[in-house]
Amino acid sequence: SKEGYAHFMIKEIHESPKAVRDTISSLMSDLDVVEKISEEIRQAERVIVTGAGTSYHAGLYFSLLLTREGITSIPLIASEYYNVKGKRGDLIIAISQSGETIDVLQSIRKLKSEGAKVVSITNVIESAIARESDYKIYMRAGPEIGVAATKTFTTQVASLLFLYSYAFGKDWKALKDADKEVEQAINATEGFAKRVGEELAKKQNIYYLGRGLSLPLAMEGALKIKEVSYVHAEAYPAGESKHGPISLVESGFPIVFINDGEMPELLKNNVMEMKARGGKIYMISVNRKLGEAELEIFLNSKFPALSISPVIQLIAYYAAVSKGLDPDKPRNLAKTVTVE
Ligand code: F6R
Repeated sequence: SKEGYAHFMIKEIHESPKAVRDTISSLMSDLDVVEKISEEIRQAERVIVTGAGTSYHAGLYFSLLLTREGITSIPLIASEYYNVKGKRGDLIIAISQSGETIDVLQSIRKLKSEGAKVVSITNVIESAIARESDYKIYMRAGPEIGVAATKTFTTQVASLLFLYSYAFGKDWKALKDADKEVEQAINATEGFAKRVGEELAKKQNIYYLGRGLSLPLAMEGALKIKEVSYVHAEAYPAGESKHGPISLVESGFPIVFINDGEMPELLKNNVMEMKARGGKIYMISVNRKLGEAELEIFLNSKFPALSISPVIQLIAYYAAVSKGLDPDKPRNLAKTVTVE
């Protein structure tokens, strides 16, 4: 039941802190598996990270973390599996909430038959994808009813951050407080997200821009608002936006910047370029304020991605609701996609 919430989507966004807490404590009680997977990641010749939709965005985030450590990693949109030839020495990380997405299954089947080992991260015990994997990690997000992935995305990112931190000698123990960062972000954001969502709902097109680890979040923000509010949204690496996309920008064109605090000076150049053409700037900032925006939310966080995730989801939710749409059941979409 919705337990007093108007929709499952908003209920499930509010369940994100618990989902993250349960998942991190489950990982901490299963360090044997985490250790084995960490070793596989460090020893692999290549780490191929596969998933679809939202799960692909979590995968891209992880793949960027790995390439920053000097690991050769390929982020693979699952349905494009035929573009990669697997080989021994490859490690596949397959990410899927349902564990049943056929595109993900097909990608792991192909690469496995060519010699790769498979790690799966799913939210459903003994799902098809889990059953075909050499190593399994389960998220403990609980059931997700809304078609749009929300708490499960935040939980995927938390699980992957844990794995990354453990494998590369970072402070993985700090993730035991990750749920608090998510909770604080949700509490601080409702008003901002409602206003931005209502404004964006009236637009035809939106850009979501970010650099570095913010790019997968920009991509997820664009997907989320597109799928539940039917406003066309596109994400780009912020620096790439001047190589074409900026030609659309005129007075009032909305641009959501994701500023995770890593490269605010570089990002500011892109903000100024957009502003000079009349772009209307919305800014989600963590740890470093950027200014220059029509509306900016500022959060402090040890885990920027985990704080940004509920913000982009709340914006999408309020955009849908302000158009009178049911965000739990967007047209043309199914929760689990079992056709290729
Ligand atoms: C977006 C969404 C879809 C799924 C995709 C993969 O909100 O829900 O893009 O993320 O269909 O599904 P799973 O993770 O079950 O493999």
